[in-house]
Amino acid sequence: MKKNILLVGANSDVAQAIAKLRAENGHALWLTGRSLEALQPIVADLKLRYEVEVSAFVYDAETSNPEALILALPGLPDEVHLAMGYLGNPICIEDAAETTRIMTVNFTAAVLLMNALVRSLIQEKRNAVLVGISSVAGDRGRKSNFLYGAAKAGFSTYLDGLRNFGYAHGIHVVTVKPGFIRSKMTAGLPLPGPLTATPQQVAKAIVKAVRKRKGRVYVLPIWELIMLIVRNIPDFVFKKMNL
Ligand SMILES: NC(=O)c1ccc[n+]([C@@H]2O[C@H](COP(=O)([O-])OP(=O)(O)OC[C@H]3O[C@@H](n4cnc5c(N)ncnc54)[C@H](OP(=O)(O)O)[C@@H]3O)[C@@H](O)[C@H]2O)c1
Repeated sequence: MKKNILLVGANSDVAQAIAKLRAENGHALWLTGRSLEALQPIVADLKLRYEVEVSAFVYDAETSNPEALILALPGLPDEVHLAMGYLGNPICIEDAAETTRIMTVNFTAAVLLMNALVRSLIQEKRNAVLVGISSVAGDRGRKSNFLYGAAKAGFSTYLDGLRNFGYAHGIHVVTVKPGFIRSKMTAGLPLPGPLTATPQQVAKAIVKAVRKRKGRVYVLPIWELIMLIVRNIPDFVFKKMNL
């Protein structure tokens, strides 16, 4: 059955990989990004390669209204992938604007948009699958990125709770926890090869999780073990570690 799939943060490398996988199955794609101009080549490429319906909408986590986005869509989506994220300066404790941006893009705006979608889906008695891309950074606060980590921790907890809330309404929620991904976000950063996923690997893991109705998925699976160990390191040791 053809689905209408909303990709929020569609200019992200991961979202583009998801879009290609979903387009291969003939689904219609609704892409959102901060700039329509930046989305146009992506829209054109998807239409040309896969001959599917693709449309683009402006949505900026810092300035857009989620209800206005939902009204602008051709209808309610059957599947949503929320891929927007902002790493920023991960320890900007003296910069209130940067701290606010990290919290807004990774948590507050993501929650407000998911809430608005869920409200509309429940009102219209529609089933849907909502995928939120969080991060292993939310599993334990580390000194190197505790603001981004705190926002992702909040988002992971929200998604887990939303899955329990949505169950009775036919709304399934997937919490995705990638480790490192080779993408625009990490360009120029030294990444450990075997622990780093490509956007295509992340997309495949997400589509598989949607198909199997998984609740929570680590990408790559080794990260589940790594984070189990990281979460269990005693505080008196952890605070002296360079993580
Ligand atoms: N890369 C990693 O190592 C890693 C690890 C774990 C989790 N993640 C998460 O994975 C997801 C996908 O990231 P990625 O690796 O594909 O990075 P990416 O290519 O940098 O994508 C991030 C996306 O977020 C969008 N964005 C930033 N600020 C926004 C705002 N104010 N309003 C709306 N959209 C905004 C960007 O839009 P523009 O294109 O307009 O800038 C971009 O499309 C993110 O949620 C990220 O936090 C990434």
